[in-house]
Amino acid sequence: MAKVSTRELFDAALKGGYAVGAFNVNNMEIIQGIVEAAAEEKAPLILQISKGARSYARHNYLMHLIEAALEQYDLPIAVHLDHGDSFELCKACIDGGFTSVMIDGSHLPFAENVKLIRQVVDYAHPRGVPVEAELGRLAGIEEHVSVSDRDAIYTNPREAKEFVEQSGADSLAVAIGTSHGAYKFKSTPQLDFARLAEIEKALPGYPLVLHGASSVPREFVELCNKYGGQLPGAQGVPEEMITRASKTNVCKINIDTDLRLAMTAAIRKVFSEVPAEFDPRKYLSPARDAIREMVRHKLHVLGCAGKA
Ligand code: G3H
Ligand code: 13P
Ligand code: ZN
Repeated sequence: MAKVSTRELFDAALKGGYAVGAFNVNNMEIIQGIVEAAAEEKAPLILQISKGARSYARHNYLMHLIEAALEQYDLPIAVHLDHGDSFELCKACIDGGFTSVMIDGSHLPFAENVKLIRQVVDYAHPRGVPVEAELGRLAGIEEHVSVSDRDAIYTNPREAKEFVEQSGADSLAVAIGTSHGAYKFKSTPQLDFARLAEIEKALPGYPLVLHGASSVPREFVELCNKYGGQLPGAQGVPEEMITRASKTNVCKINIDTDLRLAMTAAIRKVFSEVPAEFDPRKYLSPARDAIREMVRHKLHVLGCAGKA
């Protein structure tokens, strides 16, 4: 099947009340594990490539691996740039076959963020590529954070409407308490669902995106630690919250950390149990299996299993 754009995946997700998983890819085993899971579960898929992944594996290698997956499976797959940080990077990805890009100007003042997105949108739209933007700062909600502090950090619903209108972005990554990595909350995990509802009210029928959505499952942290890792106190977003978000207008949910944990636990297990092993296939193959099983599970958490 040919690559699809995120626009068509989002239209179906909004109508169907589920979210599409956007999984970060860096090499062949990760791509294969994710795509095998989506094929088994008949799920639409977003494979996303960060700037770091693109320099690590190189643009053409990743694109050819994804093309190989598309030849093998009849699955709707979008190829998305995750956290693009410049017009030039977005342009290179659009020219090089990506079907969706994110331009992340969330660290910039409002007007500069809008200006940068406009520049990318003006290049992307005539080429049929939708653009994701971000407003607000990703940071975990802690109990001591007051409502006024939250207003300064998280996405403001009124600003979100203005931001989308002025920038022409096709989807918006919102800050409601999620954050990147394995250490999302110091105390009880919580997300600002009231704010999410306000954003939906301000932008009816508009696709929202949730970054930093890994759940950091305790069993995988424990496996990593059991086999020599050091991840004390790692904590993610509980899966019930991810499922709750996926039933709203959040139609893209980004997951990277949980794949890293699954892969690392599997590799550490082989190294620890069979120290004499040095054939990479003997540890990369269980790592690929671990990614496949993690993704299969996530596709049910997001409600997109069976929706391809
Ligand atoms: O949000 C960032 C993703 O987890 C990608 O991370 O920039 O280390 O590739 P990376
Ligand atoms: P996690 O670190 O929670 O997996 O988030 C990944 C992400 O948002 C990629 O853009
Ligand atoms: Zn992100």
